[in-house]
Amino acid sequence: MIFETVATGGCRSYLIGCEQSCAGALIDPELSQIDRYIALAARHGLRIRYLVDTHTHADHFSATQQLAQRFGVPAVMHSASPAPFVELRLRSGELLRVGQLRLQALHTPGHTRDSMCLTVEDRIFTGDTLLIGGTGRTDLPSGDAGALYDSLFDGVLKLDPALKVFPAHEYKERSHSTIGEELAGNPRLQVRERGAFIAMMQNLNLTMPTHLSEALRTNMTGGKTVAQMLAEAAATVPFMSLAELKHTLEAGNDELIVLDVRERDAFEEGHVPGARLLPRGQLELRVNQELSDPTRRILVCCEFGRISTLATATLRQMGFRGAVALDGGMKAWREAGFPVKVGKEP
Ligand SMILES: [Fe+2]
Repeated sequence: MIFETVATGGCRSYLIGCEQSCAGALIDPELSQIDRYIALAARHGLRIRYLVDTHTHADHFSATQQLAQRFGVPAVMHSASPAPFVELRLRSGELLRVGQLRLQALHTPGHTRDSMCLTVEDRIFTGDTLLIGGTGRTDLPSGDAGALYDSLFDGVLKLDPALKVFPAHEYKERSHSTIGEELAGNPRLQVRERGAFIAMMQNLNLTMPTHLSEALRTNMTGGKTVAQMLAEAAATVPFMSLAELKHTLEAGNDELIVLDVRERDAFEEGHVPGARLLPRGQLELRVNQELSDPTRRILVCCEFGRISTLATATLRQMGFRGAVALDGGMKAWREAGFPVKVGKEP
């Protein structure tokens, strides 16, 4: 079996592949590592056949949907997954044939309702059900400490003690452990009485993961992250540097319309001299009155350079092919000591 671990921060994803057939599968891929997965599969001569998420992740962004679309293969999760983009929903005991390999699902609710572990040959991918020296938390949406106890003590921990454990998170750079080692040494698994286990899990008082709502929103629905929206917009627009804008203004070039898309109060506190105000929220509704010539060169600015990127992409979609986004925003403009005019529009 071809086997690779990809570690990003504390997250782990796994690539498995069948040497005989060159079929492969990716488990728990993460959005920031897309190029790495594609390169790894290519290095091993693997054709990815399945993208598998062990559960709905609440702490990072899954790349399953994007990679499944890219490879034209199914996104796979447990049948309890709420994500609409999942094409193949496994029930406990069902398996995927990855060439000669057999990747078998075991439903292990607890960390989330849709959690599953997957076994292949001598190893088990435990998602966030069982970690090395720990377990997944049960205080996030659809988590259930009693269900985790049952999944562990009536499920995973009854498997072959020699099975190698590969979790979805590992913070101490250990490659893996085994079921037997976890049973013997994992502190949480020493609490063998169900009520005590539930009480322990309910009293962990963990901090909420960063990006919790965004991760749940995107992973449950297949929607885009804010960073993706910005990256997609940025890929379709040209930018102008702060220095270039200053130089253009100093040259007295009035060919250029500077369009400030912040709200009125921010604009009146200080804007690029000569800038026009058209708040982002009114862009589509007022653009026909405000910008009558679609061939004009329009420099779009905002406070941080993000909303202006989105607004520029919108303008270009609407036919304003001369729309350019400021590379930076008014905050950086002020900090650079460049000229600012206070008050209403001219
Ligand atoms: Fe998780």
